[in-house]
Amino acid sequence: MNTQQNLPLAGVKIIDFTHVQAGPACTQMLAWFGADVIKIERPGSGDVTRTQLRDIPDVDALYFTMLNSNKRSLTLNTKTPEGKEVLTKLIKESDVMVENFGPGALDRMGFTWDYIQELNPRMILASVKGFSEGHHYEHLRAYENVAQCAGGAASTTGWWKGENAGPTISAAALGDSNTGMHLAIGILTAYIGRQKTGKGQKVACSMQDAVLNLCRVKMRDQLRLDKVGYLEEYPQYPHEPFTDVVPRGGNAGGGGQPGWILKCHGWESDPNAYIYFTVQDLVWTPICEAIGRPEWKTDPAYTTPKARQPHIMAIFGAIENFILSTGKDKYAAVEYFSGFEIPCAPVMSMKELLHDKSLRQSGSIVEVPHKTRGSYWTVGCPIKFSTLRPKVTASPLLGEHTDKVLAELGYSSEQIAAMHAANAV
Ligand code: COA
Repeated sequence: MNTQQNLPLAGVKIIDFTHVQAGPACTQMLAWFGADVIKIERPGSGDVTRTQLRDIPDVDALYFTMLNSNKRSLTLNTKTPEGKEVLTKLIKESDVMVENFGPGALDRMGFTWDYIQELNPRMILASVKGFSEGHHYEHLRAYENVAQCAGGAASTTGWWKGENAGPTISAAALGDSNTGMHLAIGILTAYIGRQKTGKGQKVACSMQDAVLNLCRVKMRDQLRLDKVGYLEEYPQYPHEPFTDVVPRGGNAGGGGQPGWILKCHGWESDPNAYIYFTVQDLVWTPICEAIGRPEWKTDPAYTTPKARQPHIMAIFGAIENFILSTGKDKYAAVEYFSGFEIPCAPVMSMKELLHDKSLRQSGSIVEVPHKTRGSYWTVGCPIKFSTLRPKVTASPLLGEHTDKVLAELGYSSEQIAAMHAANAV
């Protein structure tokens, strides 16, 4: 087990001036790796997620606990003179400050980048905003789905025809947590840079950019479409017309290998009785064997990806029929097809993931004791190391570490009491 002292980021002090999801996801990960993350929250209320979507009255909501583990909480009203003084001291002593306020909020508080640099030239200031600096939407405030729409995910996700046609939001936090992960890479890069130059710098990642970065292959498709006028791996090809923009492709595989979601035994009552099946060219012969269609191994209408594409949906239909007629549930289907080296996986529900033995064993799903909740399950560190296994500890109660952090900054107990009296902390 790692102790806090021997973790890679031990000794790195981070002012966590973040809220909701994008910023907290970033600082939580850095806290797992050993950084001392001090979350600054407004006295009395704190991060809005403490009270959002509560499952137990009067205790911190899972929304908060699952994004703020391993941190310390300092309540501070940074709009009071005392609060500004404490923040100033913290900036002088810290390595990184992370924030995801609305545009201009930090400047309005009096902590411009110029001023922060003056206070501590080694400071790395890391920001999440909806849009990047200088962008014509720079002034817009943003949440997850705003970013998914602005970054190209919504226009390329979902169905292109039928009742449910239209831009579609992904359940994955492409705008929020994804931006936080990008920012963490930026912070660590600036930190390594600082070891060479002795100077900090400003690091920013916009939610739009982070989404766009994950939609890189859709931009690839736009460029191809501009050139050739069609996209052969989309289900529209070759029977339906393409316009001049990348269409939504339903559940099609986004790369060079066609794929689709197929029904398995029990689909009538279980909303997740499905597998994802990929028709990888390399294993076409095993696929034919697996589904009892040996004649397709040599039939010119089936032997190449190009030949298969015009009737790829019929091929998926045949595979689905095979699964259903042999009574395979999603696990049995995956077990069976994996014997033929076919890339596939069951569609997993959140319930199944929560109880998955392998995920619990690897630390991807962990149970964390908490002072007022009893304990909570959360998603642990997705990055695995050979000699480091981050230990997830509880999220802090609001202001749990206020007095301790102030004492570490050199304030006497009288001064701390006075700050409490002035409602600055
Ligand atoms: N003490 C005193 N004031 C504080 C404070 C503290 N500890 N913490 C925050 N505040 C103030 C800010 O200074 C700001 O004041 P101002 O607007 O008068 O200058 C005010 O609280 C509101 O901050 P803001 O970040 O704008 O919160 P919001 O609830 O109005 O907006 C968002 C929320 C998410 C829309 C906005 O923060 C945003 O667009 N952030 C960037 C993108 C982002 O991260 N989105 C969320 C992804 S999960």
